[in-house]
Formats: sequence, C-alpha cells, structure tokens
Amino acid sequence: MTDNDQWWKKTTIYQIYPRSFKDSTGNGIGDLRGIISKLDYIKDLSVETIWFSPFYSSPQGDFGYDISDYQNIAPEYGTMEDFDDLVKNIHDRKMKIVLDMVLNHTSDQHNWFIESRSSRDNPKRDWYVWRDGKKPNGKAPPNNWKSFVTGSGWHYDSKTDQWYWASFLPFQPDLNYRNPEVKKFMMDMIRFWLRKGVDGFRLDILGAVYEDPKFRDNPLSWKLIPSEDSMDMLFRSSKYTVNYPDNFEFSKDLRKVIDEFQNPQRFLIGEVSGSLEELRTFCGKESPDGLNLVYLFQSMGTKLSANKFRKLIQKFEKYFPDPFIPTWVFSNHDIIRHISRFKEQNAIKKAKLNTALQLTVRGVPTIYYGEEIGMRQNFLPFDKSLDAVSYNFKKYPKLIRNLLLRITDYAINRDGCRTPMQWNKNETAGFSPKLTDTWLPINRNYKSINVENSIDNKDSLFYCYQRFLKLRKKTPALNSGKIDLMDPKTIPNEILGYTRSAIIDGNEQKIYVYLNFGSKIASFHNPIPNSHLLASTTISSQPLNGQNITLQPFEGIILEK
Ligand code: GLC
Repeated sequence: MTDNDQWWKKTTIYQIYPRSFKDSTGNGIGDLRGIISKLDYIKDLSVETIWFSPFYSSPQGDFGYDISDYQNIAPEYGTMEDFDDLVKNIHDRKMKIVLDMVLNHTSDQHNWFIESRSSRDNPKRDWYVWRDGKKPNGKAPPNNWKSFVTGSGWHYDSKTDQWYWASFLPFQPDLNYRNPEVKKFMMDMIRFWLRKGVDGFRLDILGAVYEDPKFRDNPLSWKLIPSEDSMDMLFRSSKYTVNYPDNFEFSKDLRKVIDEFQNPQRFLIGEVSGSLEELRTFCGKESPDGLNLVYLFQSMGTKLSANKFRKLIQKFEKYFPDPFIPTWVFSNHDIIRHISRFKEQNAIKKAKLNTALQLTVRGVPTIYYGEEIGMRQNFLPFDKSLDAVSYNFKKYPKLIRNLLLRITDYAINRDGCRTPMQWNKNETAGFSPKLTDTWLPINRNYKSINVENSIDNKDSLFYCYQRFLKLRKKTPALNSGKIDLMDPKTIPNEILGYTRSAIIDGNEQKIYVYLNFGSKIASFHNPIPNSHLLASTTISSQPLNGQNITLQPFEGIILEK
C-alpha cells in the first residue's frame, strides 16, 4: 500500500444534514434530489468528501438517528434510485460519499424491536439488551446506569416485565452485539452500502456499543455535566457504559470489513468521546488497525486564543502522531454553530481566522453545511422545539433551561443549528421551490446571510474557505506534511505560528502559517526574507513589508519561501 492510497488522510469533509440542505418537492423538508441539484456548489467550494447525516427509513423521532430499516431510504428523502444517482453524481465530480451509520441502537419502531419486545422467547428477544429489574419486586431499574441524555437508560416494558437498555433516548433501544447474529447482520449491512460505492462511514456514538457484560453499577464521579473528555455526569462515572474495552476490539473488526474493499480505500470516522488516550485507542494502540479517524471534539469549546490552540495542537500531535492523524471540527448538528460563539462585531473576521487554522493544521477538517457562509445559530423558542432531547427539559423553569442551554452549548435543544440552508434572499431562502412552512423556521437573517450574497462579495467568508481549501488541495505540505510549532518567544503573544513541510521529489516544501488571534494590528520581524504570500484571510492584505510581517486584527496568512 502506498501512502498515496490513503486519500482519506488528505481529505476535507463537508457535513450535510439532509433535512435542511435543499428541498426539491416543496414539502419544506430537504431531500436527495435537492442535494444532487446543489453538488456543483459543494464542488466549487472545493471540499472532497460529503458526509450525510442519516437518510435511512426512520420514524424521525431523532431525525434519522433512529433507524427502522438499514437498507432503505426514508420516502421523504427519496428512493434507492435517487441514492444510486447521488453516489454516481458525487463520484462523477471526483468527490467522495460518507454515510452516517448508527450501529448502537435502532428505532423502537424497527421490526426487530417490535418482535423483541413481544415476548421473552421471541427469536429477536436477545437482539436487544433486556434485564430483570432490581429485586425484590423488579420495579426498579437493573442498575444505576444513566443514558447520555440524563436519567436512567433503563426502560420498563410491562408486557414482558423486563427492562431494556437505551444509551440515548428511550425510543432508541441498544442492540446486543454479544449476540453473533446481530453483529453478522450489521457487518453485512455495511458491506451492502460499500458495494453500492460508499467511500466511508461516520460511526454514531460508537463508544456505547458494548457495555459491561456483568452489568456492574457505575462508580461515583465528581462530575455534574459531561464534557469532551468524558461522559461522566450527574455524579456517576460512565466506566461500564461508555468506552468499555470491547468497543476498541469492535473498531478493529469494523476496520477489517471496510478493508475488504480497496481501489479506492474506504474509511471510518468515529463519533466517540473520552480522553485523548481513549480516543486514540479506537484508532489502534500501537499500529493504526482500528478506526481510520475519530472526531476530536476538544476543538469545539476552545477559546479563540493563540496559546489555547498551541496547546491543543501539541496535545493532538502527542496522541495522534503520524501515521495516526487528528481531526478538526468546530460545528455539527448537535451543538451551537461556532460563529455564534463570537461577538457579532468581529464574528466574520474571527470565523475566517478559525478557517485558516482549521484548514492549515495537520488533520482532517470537517465543515458543517452553512458554516462557509457564516450561518448563525437560529435561537428558536424552547417551547416549540422539535428536538427530542429537549423534551425532558421542557418542564424545567425557563431560568434553569437557559442556564443548561448555555453550559451544554445548546446540546439540549439542537434545533437552532439545524435550520434550512440559506441559499438566497427569496422566500424560504431558496430552500424550498415554493412558499411553504419549512420543517424548522429559517433564520430571519437570511436576506443578508445567504449563498448568493456570499458569492457576490469577493471578501466573503465563502471565498476565504474556498481559497484555503484550494490551496490545501494542491499543496502537499498542507494536506499531508508534518507540523512544527514556532517557538512562542520568537513571535508576539497573540500570534500562533507553525510550519508545514513535506518532501516532494527529494525537495522540501515548507509553508509558514501565522495567525493573529489579537484584536490589534501585530507587527514582527519576518524570519524568512524573500517569502511570498500564498493566502490570507483578507483579500486586500499586504502583510509583507520590508523586514516585517504586519498582520491585521484576526488575520491569518500562509507564506512560502
Ligand atoms: C449522535 C448524533 C446525534 C444523535 C445521537 C443518537 O450523538 O450525532 O445527533 O441524536 O448520536 O443517535
């Protein structure tokens, strides 16, 4: 295998939430035909891989993350022919397609679960995790395990007088992978999609697939709310429910399945949470024989500061040295859009700086739809929320809810980061072909923040993404070179500097990146005379003057000798 085969190490990912990208029928819900009609836009942006949140059959209790048939497309999104057409259209554009795969749980409307809950001796009974309640009368959950979304993850089913386990919401019962039939079915199902030409999978809450087979109580923990580093919460550890060691072995089994398919290689990217050490274990302990990539969510809440990002790069490099590779992500369908973390006054400048960082550090970047045009979080009223995670919290007083929204980065009501893509200033922001109620309200700012406006403005965030993406694609040092941080003592405090370098045909290609996290102009000695500017976050930039580099507030530049 040559390094060149590992295209996924150099790739850039764009996440589409199918319900919200483009509606082709006029029912206010995005669909596959709509997506196909916009592929040229994504191609033009210059990303390579598109990851789709689930569009399989589903009652849509968790908008697709509750699957009721793994080998079919939900009718509101289209048909299997539309899917095949989507794959063809993506591949014709020399792009790649990644599906979201929810292995941990199904919908409670899946036939398997309907059968499973029907009687204790149904052949599908053991496809899910069923237990007796606590003695003496069985009316208390089997143990103290909590779900990801607070409260016990055990749910009582009176028909058979037992409890089933659900890591996430109650209507998402966990499958039992200790039953070989389940594992075999799911591995074959993965092969089914790979044969259809899918280039990879994003694996939903993979660390929750296997729990402790002895069902031991989780120990106490000091943590109240979960964090990027650990799912411990409500003063309970998640020792026996999240990242149980069998999940690391499972990652290797999955890798073997996708490696059956070559030319091109396929890849797996895990949605897992935990310490960097645990995350790395999902990819392989000594050699990279597990998941190809894992999301590193530590970047998400990191304050926009040179020092904070320097430390984060150091950590990522420590745990993901070559041949492993980190990932860089700032927004997705579960959390506040990152541009809305910034004060509005400098939001676009900061978003550009963030882009420059994300697209020049070593690692695979993921961009969330609309991020490239600066789509803001749509702060929708909690009372009308559609996200099932929010239902639990509706009973809380407003003050508490607002506090929880803030400390969880809006993860307890995810509607606001999922609203329809803003294409233009027409009714429905060009999302639907006719005037209709879209499934979630369009952000009221759509007349100014939309694709058309972004394309008309040469200094827009869109073009900043495009410039950096194009440069990254054609520059080996940027897409596959090593990274070396500059000594902070040699540059002002607010500047983060690093080099990226690769050997091409025996010659070293070296790229210098300088990012100004400060709100003031920064001027410092240029250590690389005769360098030239490859890209800047601002189009009018003239950072090279004489002996110095001068950066505008929040400006990021790339230089080459
Ligand atoms: C993941 C998904 C999220 C979903 C959950 C349950 O965290 O990103 O959207 O609700 O898993 O499948």
